[in-house]
Formats: sequence, C-alpha cells, structure tokens
Amino acid sequence: MTVLVLGSANADLVVPVPRRPAAGETVLGGDTTVLPGGKGANTAVAAARLGADVSFAGAVGDDRHGELLRRSLASSGVRTEHLRTSERPTGVAYITVTPDGENSIVVAPGANADVTEADVDALTWDGVAVLACSLEVPVPTVAHAVAAAAARGARPLLNLSPVVEVPAETLALLDPLVVNEHEAASLAPSFEALLDLGPRSAVITLGARGAAVVTRDGVVEVAAPPVSAVDTTGAGDAFAGALAAGLATGSSLVDAAAFAARVAALSVTSAGAQPSYPTRAEVDRLKTG
Ligand code: RIB
Ligand code: NA
Repeated sequence: MTVLVLGSANADLVVPVPRRPAAGETVLGGDTTVLPGGKGANTAVAAARLGADVSFAGAVGDDRHGELLRRSLASSGVRTEHLRTSERPTGVAYITVTPDGENSIVVAPGANADVTEADVDALTWDGVAVLACSLEVPVPTVAHAVAAAAARGARPLLNLSPVVEVPAETLALLDPLVVNEHEAASLAPSFEALLDLGPRSAVITLGARGAAVVTRDGVVEVAAPPVSAVDTTGAGDAFAGALAAGLATGSSLVDAAAFAARVAALSVTSAGAQPSYPTRAEVDRLKTG
C-alpha cells in the first residue's frame, strides 16, 4: 500500500549559532550547510527510509535547489511522478540551530506556493492507503487533497504545521490530526478537546516524552527512548512520515505512534532533517539494543 505525501520541498540553509540574535543585532555563526528539507519532502523521505512505498506531490523550481531535492527523494526511493517543476524558485528555509539542538526557521515558499488544486486533480489514487499533508503549501490545495483522499478511501493525515486556519469540513475528515504540544495548546484547552475541532483522532508529539494519541476512547501516551539531541529540525516530519508508514501497513494508531516516536528520537541524534532519518533496520536496533 502506498503513502501519498502532499506538501513542501525546501532547500534548508542551516547555520549553527551560539544564540539567536535580538532585533537589530548581528551574531556570527558557523559555516552554512545546504540540506534537502521542507515538511512535505521530509515526511516522504522518512516514510520511504522505513520501507514504505511513497509518492511525493509538490513543486520545486528549475534550479540547483530543486535538483538537490529531487536527488534526495530519489535516493530514498520516493516516487516523484507528481513532483512538478514550477516557474518559481525552489522554496528555501533559513534555519538557525543553537547548541541545545533547538532551531528557528524562516521559510520563503517559492514553488511551494504554486501547488494548486489542479495538481491534486492530477493525482492517482490506486493503492493509496494514507495521504499525509502539511501546511507549507496553500490551504485550499490541502483541503482539496484531503477531500479527494476521503472520497477515494485513503486515510487522510494532516500535520497542522505551521498552524493556520483550516476549513471545518477538512478537519472532520482527518484520522489523525497531528500537532506538537505548542500547536495543540494554541488550538484547544486540552488534548481531548482537540477532537471538538472535528477530527476522528489526534496525535500530539511531546518531544523527548514521546506522543499522545487521542480517540473517543481517551488518551494513550507512548514513550520515546532517551537520546541526546543534536538537531531537532524535522523531527515532527520524521514522526509524521513514520506514522503514515505504520498506518499504511495496517498498524493501530497507538502502535504506529509508538513506532513514530522511536523514529523521531533517532532523527534528533544527527544534523539536518532528511539526512538524519533512520532506516527500518536502525529503528529495530534501537528497539532491541
Ligand atoms: O519541519 C522542518 C522543516 O521546516 C525544514 O526542513 C524546513 O524546510 C521547514 O520547512
Ligand atoms: Na536531525
């Protein structure tokens, strides 16, 4: 069964900094590295490294950053027949990483802003078990894709990151809605109350503490293994990709979330987003070792 990922692809321009500059201040950092990223492409690569059959839908520019993204997707085994080349430049994320592994990010969407409802209409749904979306592409495009997935019998998962307003009828189709703790707090007063927004289920990522799974039956927490964080960039996308991969193989939501928490934990132990995502063998070693 296939995981279809619709979302952004960015070149991540990463600079290590001793601390974040305040307004009007200049801070000297280390050397810049240019890495393949973007919440959508990250999710696709994470799922494919774990052995899922993955197709990525999105857009990149006709430029070097676009080539970087295409190479990273292809080398992880992600199919790119729905990755379009846009007239706009490939999206760029400007990322500072501090010594504690935390990041802050500014995204220039570029080609990602050009992923349209017509792109969704061109998708093929044969064998698609799960659609995984995130929100660095336009909301109407995501809303259209979620509706199309539901109509074709594919399970729609939305990582509501960054938090933007999404139509109620889109939220109602999600199974699950995926958010981090901060996003959850901005949306509802409690984890249980996330279901009042309409989704059939919700998964809240809790960083080093793992994740919480919310269904009408209640809240179940799954733990993450202890790791030392080097770079948390893209950990949420690794989680979403692993969750989608688990659901596509028929795992329960709780089992898929427990698996995803291990994958996300491994991803923070090395630099970058896509380059840090583990293979299934690496996840299995963590489980037994
Ligand atoms: O979630 C991490 C991602 O956010 C980075 O790869 C960057 O491209 C931004 O989209
Ligand atoms: Na990482």
